[in-house]
Amino acid sequence: MIIGFELNGKQVSLEIEPRETLAEVLRGRCRLTGVKISCEAQVCGSCTVLVNGLPVSACTLLAYEVRGKRVTTIEGLAGGSGRLHPLQQAFLDNFSFQCGFCTPGMILAAKALLDENAAATDEEIIGHMNGNLCRCTGYLPILKAIRQAAAVMRGQK
Ligand code: FES
Ligand code: FES
Repeated sequence: MIIGFELNGKQVSLEIEPRETLAEVLRGRCRLTGVKISCEAQVCGSCTVLVNGLPVSACTLLAYEVRGKRVTTIEGLAGGSGRLHPLQQAFLDNFSFQCGFCTPGMILAAKALLDENAAATDEEIIGHMNGNLCRCTGYLPILKAIRQAAAVMRGQK
């Protein structure tokens, strides 16, 4: 089947198998390997992408379900000039990753929260990020980065 959707700001039309997941299509057909596949069971959050601004697990969503929708992956986050999104910069500034496998999903999940509420409390941030697991950092550097990005994003509004 052929599906059309917006991918990182550009309209795309792709021929896919109806059984393919969004993660398989993004990685295999679009070469967007920032979408990480780990548990494949909607548990770890590594494969998180944004669909119409909301975080979804691309490992369990069938690709045809994004027809006509807006999909954002980590590759679409930096500005046109290559300037990093405040969350990307904050993750770098705070050493908020080690292996980095969870990082694209973390950043996209956090973006969904801060786009909705850049004044989120620590409790709200922790609750929102509950579905994104990290085996390396101990989570505190991630929390620090999200706080820093939130402050930047509040300043931009
Ligand atoms: S790989 Fe999708 S939630 Fe773990
Ligand atoms: S940085 Fe390694 S899993 Fe999070």
